Formats: sequence, C-alpha cells, structure tokens
Amino acid sequence: ALPLIIDTDTGSDDAVALLLAAASGLGDIRAVTTVAGNVPVETGTRNALISLETAGRTDIPVHPGCARPMTRTLSTAQHVHGEDGMGDIGLPDPATTCHHTHAVETLLSSPHRHPGELTLVTLAPLTNIAAALLRDPDLFTRYRHVYCMAGAADLRGNVSPTAEFNVWADPEAARIVTQAATPEKVTWIGWDVSRKDAVMTPTDQQRLEQLGTPMATFAHRINRTVADWARDVTGLAGYDLPDPVAMAVALKPDLITEQEQAHVDISVTDDTRGQMIIDRRLSAPAPNITLVRRVDETGFKKLLFDTVTTPLPG
Ligand code: BDR
Ligand code: CA
Repeated sequence: ALPLIIDTDTGSDDAVALLLAAASGLGDIRAVTTVAGNVPVETGTRNALISLETAGRTDIPVHPGCARPMTRTLSTAQHVHGEDGMGDIGLPDPATTCHHTHAVETLLSSPHRHPGELTLVTLAPLTNIAAALLRDPDLFTRYRHVYCMAGAADLRGNVSPTAEFNVWADPEAARIVTQAATPEKVTWIGWDVSRKDAVMTPTDQQRLEQLGTPMATFAHRINRTVADWARDVTGLAGYDLPDPVAMAVALKPDLITEQEQAHVDISVTDDTRGQMIIDRRLSAPAPNITLVRRVDETGFKKLLFDTVTTPLPG
C-alpha cells in the first residue's frame, strides 16, 4: 500500500477521500494534517478523527495546522458542507484526540524519516504546505509525489467565475506551491475533473444509501447539504466529489485518462483572486505542474463503492 500524508480541511468530501485512503487497501496513511478551509481548523480536525474512526482506524495521528490563510481572512464553505462541515447530521464527538505536533512540523519531518517514500495528498487550501515550503524550499523533492486537489484547469470556478475554493481561499499559499513545483513531482486534480467525470448522480446516491454498510451510510449522510446545495443553488441533479477524485488518482494513477504538463501561476489580485494562469504560449516557461484533465468515471466509482463495502478491521 502507498504510504501517505494527507492534508485536509475535513468537510464532507474530504471525509470520503479519507475513507478511500484508509479502507481501500491501496493506502497506508502515516499521518493526517489539518488546516482551516471548509470549516475552522478545530472543526476539520474533529471531522478527520470521526472519519478515520468510521474506517476503523483510531491509530492514525491527526495533526492540527494553520488556523487561517497566509494573508487573507478565513472564508469557510459551511453554507455548502454544513455548519459542522459534515452535513449537520449530529455526528457524535470522536473518541480519539488529535496529536500535539503541529501539521507544518509533521509535513517537514515525515519525509526525513522516509526519504522519497511518502506521497503527499492535499485536499485543502495550501496554507500548511506553503508554510512548510518557506522553511524547506526543497520539500517537494523529499516526497515521492505530491497530488493536490486544487484549481480548475478549464477555468471553470466554483467560488468565483474563474477560481476554485482551495486556491481561492489562500491564493498566496497556492502561488508558493506553484513556484516550488516541478511536473515530475506535483500533480493537480482540479474541480472541473470531478464535475466532468465524477458526479454522484441520483442513482449513485441511492445506491450508496441502500448499501447499508457503516461507511456507505456515513458517506451518504454527511453529503446531504452538498447534495441540497448542488440541486437548489446550481440546479444540478448530482453533487461532485473533488477530494475523493484526487485521492483516487493518487492511489490508482491509471485512473487518469487525460493529462497535460503546463506552466501555472496563480492570480493574487482581487478581481481574479485564485485564478489559475495557465501559460500555453509557444514561448511559455517550462511546465511546473502536471494537470489531470479527465479520469475514468467507471473505475473511480468502482473504487468508491468497493471501499465503502469493505469489512472494517477488527
Ligand atoms: C474543494 O473545496 C472544498 O469545498 C472541498 O472539500 C474541496 O477540497 C473543492 O473546490
Ligand atoms: Ca477539502
């Protein structure tokens, strides 16, 4: 199984990504780090603990990290994921508690113990990662690979016409990440991919509900407010699962059906805050990021449904 460090602002789709990493048999989570984003960092930490417990994994350390973006005010997505980030279904408090080592320390020290072996998957605003890069500019070279749920390579935003939440929430951090990236080490999976190839249709939602296993029921119920928001605000029949798609790509890169390498910068000016600036000129600088453009929808959903029906350990 792939040794993983996962950075997350655990809301309802991050939670499903954690199930994939913890229970598919493809991942070996060494640590989870949390950051402010969908919800305040304390809430995201609570949700990460609950999600890991749901997968039967009370042994994985969860390290709280940065409580606000580098320079901006925190704007959460509680209107989408619920006040608690998990569909407001009244989840009980976790039995486990978080670890005392800060997320940024964990991101910095973990690859020193396992050089070149760990895969980093980021599902959140890139604040912790940028803070770690300020301390160690060569950090990415110490990881096997870095997969980020970030941006929208077709420039279709979800918080503004041209910006995706994780990049928009902390554009300065995202910019630091692009400046440290090389396409061999860093792959971004944008929101557009989940909208094109991983929509949970009403039929998929019904299937998840009817499976009846603890993980399937959890995954279905916590995405209640996301499903409502998709239907009522965006007029779409299904909700998307950006973080699970990014995690699936990390666990099973053969799910990628289309990708490109490009030079990416991030806008930090107010009108286009968080927009990806993808340079496709013939004279463009060398690519810095591999951008996933499409994934295999059938393969992704098989991984999802197989995982939530896997018997829990013990
Ligand atoms: C991203 O923002 C959050 O709402 C999701 O958890 C995902 O990480 C999608 O834009
Ligand atoms: Ca997230």
